[in-house]
Amino acid sequence: MDYINMTYEEALSHAPKEEPARQYYFIERYKEVLDQLKASSGKEQFTFHIATFGCQMNSRDSEKLQGILEAIGFVGTDTEEADFVLYNTCTVRENANDRVYGRLGYLNSLKKKNPHMMIALCGCMMQEEKVVAKIKQSYRFVDIIFGTHNIFKLAELMYERLEEKKMVVDIWEGTDRIVEDLPTDRKYSFKSGVNIMFGCNNFCSYCIVPYVRGRERSRSPKDILEEVKQLVADGVVEIMLLGQNVNSYGKNLETPVSFAELLTQIDQVEGLERIRFMTSHPKDLSDELIEAMKHSKKVCKHLHLPLQSGSSRILKVMNRKYTREQYLELVEKIRAAIPDISLTTDIIVGFPGETEEDFNETLDVVKKVRFDSAFTFIYSKRTGTPAAKMEEVPEEAVKNRFDRLLTEVQKISSEVCGRDEHTVQKVLVEEVNDHEKGLLTGHMSNNTTVHFKGDSSLIGKIVDVYLDESRGFYYMGTLRP
Ligand code: SAH
Ligand code: SF4
Ligand code: F3S
Repeated sequence: MDYINMTYEEALSHAPKEEPARQYYFIERYKEVLDQLKASSGKEQFTFHIATFGCQMNSRDSEKLQGILEAIGFVGTDTEEADFVLYNTCTVRENANDRVYGRLGYLNSLKKKNPHMMIALCGCMMQEEKVVAKIKQSYRFVDIIFGTHNIFKLAELMYERLEEKKMVVDIWEGTDRIVEDLPTDRKYSFKSGVNIMFGCNNFCSYCIVPYVRGRERSRSPKDILEEVKQLVADGVVEIMLLGQNVNSYGKNLETPVSFAELLTQIDQVEGLERIRFMTSHPKDLSDELIEAMKHSKKVCKHLHLPLQSGSSRILKVMNRKYTREQYLELVEKIRAAIPDISLTTDIIVGFPGETEEDFNETLDVVKKVRFDSAFTFIYSKRTGTPAAKMEEVPEEAVKNRFDRLLTEVQKISSEVCGRDEHTVQKVLVEEVNDHEKGLLTGHMSNNTTVHFKGDSSLIGKIVDVYLDESRGFYYMGTLRP
């Protein structure tokens, strides 16, 4: 295009081969493009909007994508009426996909009004061939499609799009690379996710994640520790270590390191106050990890331990590699070591072949463990997974079971969440409550939400709060001096 000093070919021939230098180069090139666009259009600023679907991995990826857009000179905005709109998608259940298709039509109407607008799609959904084919055919106004393995390439792909004049599609099937040290912008100044591993090797029979996120890759402890120290120097007090199965961290490193060892090293970072992690697979949760959690002052009193089903028969077909008894024993062991720990879980209802008896076993585990909270999901068929070939449970039975499970989960949750009423607890102040003026909202170590009166200057600080009243899933409290 005429507003670029160099053609894409010229720019390409000058681009460094190695990363991340190559991306910094394209950030600079796009910056020049933006400056010229501003001059020619008279617009003072060019805006971007990122919509993130799915899990914490995607949220963290979005912070990296945001960092790149800001480095180029785009300014973030809350609305989709922006010059660059990016959807970071999830495909774990069908309804996540439907939401994206639903919103694309609206984006097209916005694009017709703004000649500068670009629309980009990335994330897990884009790793599916049939999705990309559908977008190429029915959503031709999309400018850029990329996947989960090459988010670091955003600036290069945007630059390429300017020259190409047609949809740029760059999806990698897999990768063994981890590109570090690109700009990121955190959503919160005081807390941050930290990727410790990418991908998943477990192939639970219902789950699409291993297909769209690739094989397990762990970052080196050195890189992780450096990132944590840098975050703490920037004012972060709470980190969330991220991986699909953090308990198998480090197994494929040149010098293997266990997750428990990593946790113990991170525990020693001065200035860091709280450590969380997500997600733990019950099959890999070691005694060593329980010990490390028990002896750490910083690891929060919360463990998310997805159950998926309480029936050993279904667990076997799900390829979860533990039985109902092993799960219950594990819970007992954890509670014996850390009595005040809060346990949360994920449960799938209506997995193919689930009988009333299987479901009752799930209900029974829920009653025995008494989770602080549980995310309950209706089974969603994912093409390409082994379970997709299995016979589905009739919809009506699934709905009925789902409602019964939800009722039980909520009843238990409201009973157990209130156990700290009338005590003083440490709370990380996270935001001003948007429903009630003058109230702040934060989380206890065990992740329960607390609302209390206070001034916004406390945001990012850990304060003592007296828990006056439990309201089921959260507390109303009073700030202690
Ligand atoms: N790695 C994590 C989970 C990632 S996906 C783990 O193993 O625990 C988050 C949750 O989505 C899963 O725990 C599961 O409960 C749910 N889920 C995954 N695939 C699903 C599907 N096909 N249908 C319904 N729920 C699903
Ligand atoms: Fe999916 Fe299982 Fe991997 Fe979790 S452990 S991401 S449920 S395959
Ligand atoms: Fe969804 Fe991908 Fe996470 S499929 S749950 S965003 S890993």
